[in-house]
Amino acid sequence: MTLSSLHELSERFRGRDFLDFSTYTGEEIKALLDGAKSLKILRQQGEQHLLLQGKTLGMIFDKASTRTRVSFEVGMFELGGHALFLANDATQLGRGEPIIDTARVLSRYLQAIMIRTFAHQSMEELATYATIPIINGLTDEHHPCQVLADLLTIEEKKGHFDGVTIAYVGDGNNMAHSLLQAAPLVGMNIRVATPSGYEPDATIVAQAKMSAKSSGTEILVTNDPYVAALDADVIYTDVWASMGQEESAQKRINDFSTFQVNDALFEAADDDAIFLHCLPAHRGEEVTESVLEGAHSVVFDQAENRLHVQKAVMVAVIG
Ligand code: CP
Ligand code: NVA
Repeated sequence: MTLSSLHELSERFRGRDFLDFSTYTGEEIKALLDGAKSLKILRQQGEQHLLLQGKTLGMIFDKASTRTRVSFEVGMFELGGHALFLANDATQLGRGEPIIDTARVLSRYLQAIMIRTFAHQSMEELATYATIPIINGLTDEHHPCQVLADLLTIEEKKGHFDGVTIAYVGDGNNMAHSLLQAAPLVGMNIRVATPSGYEPDATIVAQAKMSAKSSGTEILVTNDPYVAALDADVIYTDVWASMGQEESAQKRINDFSTFQVNDALFEAADDDAIFLHCLPAHRGEEVTESVLEGAHSVVFDQAENRLHVQKAVMVAVIG
């Protein structure tokens, strides 16, 4: 893909929201990944790619962030545009101004908004009232930008998606949901292992199963981490207590104790399996130091890919 095909990506996606994968096809996801690969190469070659000159992205953060904030801000800078950090407590949102008013006001200044917030519904409300594209930078329910980076990493390391099996071990949270949505769309099998009571949302699982039926892929939701990990090509985990769940963190350490990704569990996977984690990681909880720092871990390549995929999403929806 060249600069002109990146312009074609904009022609195709301009104005679209990127809230979760439910409104995207596998083919569209692959087009965004192709865009990301091109942008990654342009950056590696030191070639300018000022595709969003004069454009401004607003970034609303109701939760903490390292990767999301920095990769969006750097990405927008590299595309020739500007990114505006809007911390909840430094805006009128934090003093109770309704999101429906914020949406209409910000639409008069900006070309797109990235939002990291709690309720998925708040982001959907923002998208309904805004006249500019909204990008999900994480909600309690989904984290699609992260999963786009995960997909790029899997494709780079495995060479393809077809028949690849990903085992997600841990909490049935936003990461599990976005992985469940995306895996069948691109042709991957997915297994999700959680403790009893921490399963992913039943509606999202049902939709993923329908999607898997039409793509001929497999979905398994289990309470046995070894069943999930057996011969898997990718082992994925995430924190046991997500942002906003700090109060139940201690209880979760007990409830998840047999769901740690350690050497024994990793050995159940395929010999060439890779380890993914969206980060931040809690060493000694959901993953051991040995797995996180081990030869099969590609978590920092995965983190880098946030930059490339988000640049592709911004070029696509804003360009
Ligand atoms: N993975 C991820 O979204 O990281 P941050 O919370 O640092 O943005
Ligand atoms: N599930 C985690 C992901 C962090 C990137 C959280 O929501 O806190």
